[in-house]
Amino acid sequence: MSDDFPERRWFWATLALSSISIIGLVFAVWELLESHFFRDVDYLTLHYLYVSRGVVSSLLLAFWAAWFVLRARRASERQLRRSRARYRGILNCSPAAIALFDSDLIVAEWNAAAEDLYGYTRAEVLGSKLPTIPAEKQSEMQAFLKQASQGRPVLDVETRHCTKQGALVDVQTNVLPYHEEEPGRYFLEVSIDIRERIRLRQTLLQVEKLTTMGQMAAGTAHHLNTPLASMLLRVELARKHVQNASVDVDLGDLEGNIRYCQQFVRRLLDFSRRPQLTRRVEAIKDTLDSVLSFLSPQLVTKQIHLTLDMDAADGSAVMADRNQIEALFLILITNALDAVQPKGHITVRCHAADDRIHVSIEDDGCGIEPVNLPHIFEPFFTTKPVGKGTGLGLSIAATILQEHEGSMRIDSAPNRGTAVRIELPLSPQAAAPEKVLV
Ligand SMILES: Nc1ncnc2c1ncn2[C@@H]1O[C@H](COP(=O)(O)OP(=O)(O)OP(=O)(O)O)[C@@H](O)[C@H]1O
Ligand SMILES: [Mg+2]
Repeated sequence: MSDDFPERRWFWATLALSSISIIGLVFAVWELLESHFFRDVDYLTLHYLYVSRGVVSSLLLAFWAAWFVLRARRASERQLRRSRARYRGILNCSPAAIALFDSDLIVAEWNAAAEDLYGYTRAEVLGSKLPTIPAEKQSEMQAFLKQASQGRPVLDVETRHCTKQGALVDVQTNVLPYHEEEPGRYFLEVSIDIRERIRLRQTLLQVEKLTTMGQMAAGTAHHLNTPLASMLLRVELARKHVQNASVDVDLGDLEGNIRYCQQFVRRLLDFSRRPQLTRRVEAIKDTLDSVLSFLSPQLVTKQIHLTLDMDAADGSAVMADRNQIEALFLILITNALDAVQPKGHITVRCHAADDRIHVSIEDDGCGIEPVNLPHIFEPFFTTKPVGKGTGLGLSIAATILQEHEGSMRIDSAPNRGTAVRIELPLSPQAAAPEKVLV
């Protein structure tokens, strides 16, 4: 108010001075007319002259004042429009999402960045309740409003808001008291999208985790490899001499488990340092066969019904690193094996089409909960009990496929089963026949 006071004073001063000048001018003109043309007139004419002078000056004054006020009003309206446009421009230029609302969260202002971030248009939210606060964050927002209304702005808090599509976005928000009419009645919320920052933070954490894991893996492998190899040797020797069938079965199990431990150690090593790839033409069916025979102790123990449909891939080959492709199938079939109940079903299908080799591994096991699906490729994500799964399998499988220009798709329904479909480029050359040891 105090800012436009001098302007108002000038307005009234100009109006008063110009009005006085108009009156003065009318009177002067009338005096001239009177002295030139009405010098010897009678009293009545003089009377009319005075009256007409009054009427003319009043009319002129009225017109002048109306025009003057109207002109000033138009000028201030123009100024208002300009400052409104500037204020909206500044608001919309802001890269931060800005919302102005009252203590009942009724929105009074909404900028373009808020439209972009949350998907609600200005027209949709003006006059209605702020729609971006998810149910679980309502009490947090009330606490922010309370703090801001006590004159203490809420600064740079990381929270989550929801979009029109119902997705949650990570934002860094500020809630500030906004003094327009009554202090404390309005609040300005300024938020920025920090999804990228959170993602980077998580990646950094993961890199840190992976580095530690890599160091740990190298140490673990070093310490476990030798005793595991010697255990395996002894168990193999013991099996040669054993007479009792049930002891032989137990030793067989033990052997399978030692091999599993060796595989586990190898996986840790694979994860910590990617081995140099040696690509050769590999028959896909042979690779699958050797993995299945490696896993046969577990398949037998769990009495799995294994269905193989691989004839369509007979003779089809991929240009790949044998160890890596074996590791890939081992990871996927082990996952299926872990997922199924005893006597469950696993089906391995394989065929070649469109220069690609298609392998599917289906099981009728526990399936994957939809909430877990987006995370299964993350290193260390596992739903298995501690000591059972490292959570590295699928992330290694994805890396192997990436290195071999392949792809993977997983469809799963909880309690119904999982289908993993992978594709690899078909090698134009046929694979050399496997050497048969006699
Ligand atoms: N066939 C499947 N059926 C059900 N769940 C699966 C299947 N394959 C993967 N999953 C889910 O994906 C998660 C991650 O699998 P991943 O192979 O990466 O790790 P893991 O099996 O838990 O541990 P490991 O490193 O020993 O393989 C599993 O914990 C499981 O919840
Ligand atoms: Mg696994």
